[in-house]
Amino acid sequence: MNGKIKIVVVGLKFGKYIIESQICTGPGAPFMELVGVFDLDEEKSKTLANTLSVKKYGCLDEILTDPQVQAIGLFTPPAGRAALVRQIINAGKHVITTKPFELNCAEGLKVLKEARSLHKAVHMNSPGPYLDIETKTFLAWQEKFSLGQPVSARWQTFVRYQEQADGSWFDDPLRCPVAPVFRLGIYGINQMISLCGEVQSVGVAHARINTGRPTPDTGELSLCFKNGALGSVFASFSSGDGQSYSNIMEIHFEHGSIRSEVTKPTDNWDEIEKKLILQAKLTTGEVIHRTKLIKNSNIHGKYQWENFKNSIENPTLIEDEISPEMIMHAMEVINAMSIAEQNNARVDVVSSTPSCSVEPNADTTGLNSQKNSTLMR
Ligand SMILES: NC(=O)c1ccc[n+]([C@@H]2O[C@H](COP(=O)([O-])OP(=O)(O)OC[C@H]3O[C@@H](n4cnc5c(N)ncnc54)[C@H](O)[C@@H]3O)[C@@H](O)[C@H]2O)c1
Repeated sequence: MNGKIKIVVVGLKFGKYIIESQICTGPGAPFMELVGVFDLDEEKSKTLANTLSVKKYGCLDEILTDPQVQAIGLFTPPAGRAALVRQIINAGKHVITTKPFELNCAEGLKVLKEARSLHKAVHMNSPGPYLDIETKTFLAWQEKFSLGQPVSARWQTFVRYQEQADGSWFDDPLRCPVAPVFRLGIYGINQMISLCGEVQSVGVAHARINTGRPTPDTGELSLCFKNGALGSVFASFSSGDGQSYSNIMEIHFEHGSIRSEVTKPTDNWDEIEKKLILQAKLTTGEVIHRTKLIKNSNIHGKYQWENFKNSIENPTLIEDEISPEMIMHAMEVINAMSIAEQNNARVDVVSSTPSCSVEPNADTTGLNSQKNSTLMR
């Protein structure tokens, strides 16, 4: 292994947590070396730079022209993220960022393709650049035990925040549609797309139970997949039972079911471990059970720091990563969800690229990327 990747973190609210729990100590520490920080709020930059004894950058350009910097951890809000990523990759640096990637699907797709042509890594935690072991296990069991196609999938997560309005993007339904689904349910949407394929249409239900924000704190997204499977993604900021962010998936195939459960209660997502449980009826009539423990580092939604380092050091590996089309399909679903929220109607996620595959690593080169959503009354 060569030396650690020299990284600057930009956006220091959630980014501060990433620095403290992932980069300076935690799963990213063996692969990353934090060399600086930057936030539009200078006080945040100054305080953190002093605490960590790293450089305080005054603007993005200063980072982009610093030859020691190899990568940027971009933890700014999702709206307009593609434009920042474009600046960064064109300056020769790599990017690790967070979900949801970018609300503007055309811009998101364009910049992800641009990154590939420039051999610059643009990784995020959901979807990760490579399928996580949790999701891979669902797919492996589906194939190994001939479970058939998915029939229904349900995903849910709960946490109790009781947030107050602060005028930020979290309060704006256009920048934060069906808030709990956009902010937490995105993990379920991405995982479901990996398991069930392309989404045909969506509908939403949402409520404000005890939030101080104008946006909902509880929401459900219903999804019809092109293969006929039905899905539901439920997320709430209003329910705390000592088990936050469980991100539980239950999926029924034609000949078997797989569900996940958390092995011990914890409010800390960095400590969650899951068990996957399969029950299937084989063609012989035999009913079988299997279980598999999924370690915290292998659950969907984790930052893949080692893969990020590998992609930076071996630029050709970028070609094997999850496709830009698959990343942006989740954002197409989010856009349709936003229209559904605004119009209180079911919305079709219409693709102008009908053959656009959302299979992991599918070769979709040359497909027209534009998709749009239409209202169904
Ligand atoms: N569990 C998770 O994975 C998780 C949890 C929380 C947030 N997030 C994600 O992290 C992202 C940021 O969330 P947040 O809660 O920190 O948002 P936020 O809006 O509260 O804070 C963003 C920070 O970035 C700074 N900033 C904004 N634009 C900038 C720019 N162009 N250059 C430098 N700094 C800039 C702001 O000053 C602010 O400090 C979102 O995409 C969110 O969904 C992920």
